[in-house]
Amino acid sequence: MLPLLAANAVVIMAIALALGLFAALPSALVAHLVLAMGIMPLILAAMAYFVPVLTRSDGAPRSVEGLALLAWLGGLAMVASVAVHMEALAVALALVGALLAVKAAASLLLWTILRARRSLGAPHPGLAWYVAALGFLLAALVTVPLLWVWPEQRVVLRLIHLHANLLGFVGLTAIGTLQVLLPTAANRWDKHAATRLKQDLGFGICGVAMMAIGAGFSSLLAGIGAALFLVPLLRMGTRWSMDYADHLGRLHGASTALGLSCFGLVGLIFAGLGHAFGYLNGSDALTGFVPAFLLPLVSGAAMQLLPVWLRPGRQDGWHEKLRSTLGRYSGLHAPLLVAGGLAVAFGYPQGLWLAAVGVLVLLAVVVNALSKFCRSDK
Ligand code: HEM
Repeated sequence: MLPLLAANAVVIMAIALALGLFAALPSALVAHLVLAMGIMPLILAAMAYFVPVLTRSDGAPRSVEGLALLAWLGGLAMVASVAVHMEALAVALALVGALLAVKAAASLLLWTILRARRSLGAPHPGLAWYVAALGFLLAALVTVPLLWVWPEQRVVLRLIHLHANLLGFVGLTAIGTLQVLLPTAANRWDKHAATRLKQDLGFGICGVAMMAIGAGFSSLLAGIGAALFLVPLLRMGTRWSMDYADHLGRLHGASTALGLSCFGLVGLIFAGLGHAFGYLNGSDALTGFVPAFLLPLVSGAAMQLLPVWLRPGRQDGWHEKLRSTLGRYSGLHAPLLVAGGLAVAFGYPQGLWLAAVGVLVLLAVVVNALSKFCRSDK
């Protein structure tokens, strides 16, 4: 299921970018197409895959793997809610969507905690980042019914929902995973990663909570939150620039895309400081989030993990060959995506065209790699 959900996310993001360039659709529709139907199910499925690794236990049962599909249905209900024109139906669909996503996230959280308790030895410190990320997803979903219960606070609740989702759920999952994924892609162990994961989680959680609450009430609180959130990112980035510099600037390979996704997220936090203090527009940062961070992150992770997901078990030359074909020209498309996305976030919408070129290069690489491997599989 993971390869399907990864393809689903990449195709949806490419469609969303095209819609952003050529059609004027409601931003909530495009946002939920990408985030609730593309990214949320992919992250939940990836967590179901990684939790057994982090707790040294058996693979996830089918019922847990299926939670990602439940979340996808929740996302679909939310997209339909924005698309329909009847108010009562829109509210009902949004509530059904939130309920399905809550069921998926809460069940995965419960299963993760149970697995952590039964872990062989102490669970890997990356697990706590997943628990925190799921906590933020649940908090974000709880704000959905409140939008109608407490309509006079709609602006504040919407800001809590979107920051808790984008930075709490997606951001914390990404930081927790990247600390292990980039060293794996570079084939060189990072002996400081576990300590950083333990020391920095508090900064990540407090940073997101202060940004989410501060966005609606106090720019100063949001600004302090942004500074705290930057701590884990900058500590990880500094270590990478010392230990993995030879991998980060390569023309091919997952490390370049993964490293640049971290750079993109740092840039987006600075854009966030810009809109918190009234110099930039927040909706530009939302548009830039997809090319500057999500696309290099998801494509870099897929380059490294897709071969294992397609053929689990013993790793051989087939996996290495597919990995290197998928990783072709990451040093071309990832910089285009990140530069284009950050340009948009800093108020230059023409950056979308740069990102579109990056998407075309990325799609060409993916189609070429998969067609080659479908042929060699026959
Ligand atoms: C199925 C679960 C979800 C439901 C039911 C839901 C519901 C909503 C609702 C009702 C709004 C307010 C829309 C408006 O102001 O008109 C909203 C806004 C938003 N949500 Fe969600 N959401 C869900 C999942 C997510 C996820 C997983 C993410 C990100 C990872 C996300 C990101 C956003 C963003 C960025 C906005 C602001 C969109 C804009 O107005 O430009 N949502 N959501």
